[in-house]
Amino acid sequence: MQIKHAAFVVSNQDVLKCPKHNLPEYAFIGRSNVGKSSLINMLTSRKSLAKTSGRPGKTQLINHFIINKNWYLVDLPGYGYARVSKSSKKTFQKFITEYFKNREQLISAFVLVDIRHKPQPIDLEFMQWMGENTIPFSIVFTKADKLKPQAILNHVDDYKAVLLQTWETMPNYFVTSSSTTMGKEALLSYIGSINTSL
Ligand code: GTP
Ligand code: MG
Repeated sequence: MQIKHAAFVVSNQDVLKCPKHNLPEYAFIGRSNVGKSSLINMLTSRKSLAKTSGRPGKTQLINHFIINKNWYLVDLPGYGYARVSKSSKKTFQKFITEYFKNREQLISAFVLVDIRHKPQPIDLEFMQWMGENTIPFSIVFTKADKLKPQAILNHVDDYKAVLLQTWETMPNYFVTSSSTTMGKEALLSYIGSINTSL
């Protein structure tokens, strides 16, 4: 799928105020700094459609982007960010949880994990929570440009082994790099094929 048009629509903190459309929506979630906003820019071939930063905690709201005028990408704040105050962390977690529980337009989420790290409890717990709430998701490994090809395979295998201790099957996954555009075609054609099947 080609992205010909991508535009920011609105940011807010409340799932009830998110755009009232009936188009398919896909949301990116994961720890702060994992590369959610960068991935949105990479997929849309726009340098700064979504705001990125080297410092964790950049995205603090639910951000809607309309793509090709017929589907939406959603950039969310990261979870597990230690440097925001406890009270704002609670608010983040609350509206992220409410977004996933209540957003009827959500077709599927992408849970991003940094390919360099071993499976982290916070990510595994989040995926568990998604499973328990029957919210469909794929895993997106980010920053693959930081590893050599063999190391990429090894890290994905390690991740699979850990997930298969609790999951019956490995969730659908993508290996990506926002620096090299690795994974772009695969991710976009996945979304494209879901969109045409709806
Ligand atoms: P929050 O909004 O804080 O939750 O972070 P985020 O997940 O949106 O991360 P963001 O896209 O802002 O990227 C965080 C940092 O990682 C930035 O310095 C990016 O340049 C860098 N980064 C993101 N993706 C990649 C990638 O694929 N490769 C490399 N090398 N760096 C990346
Ligand atoms: Mg962000």
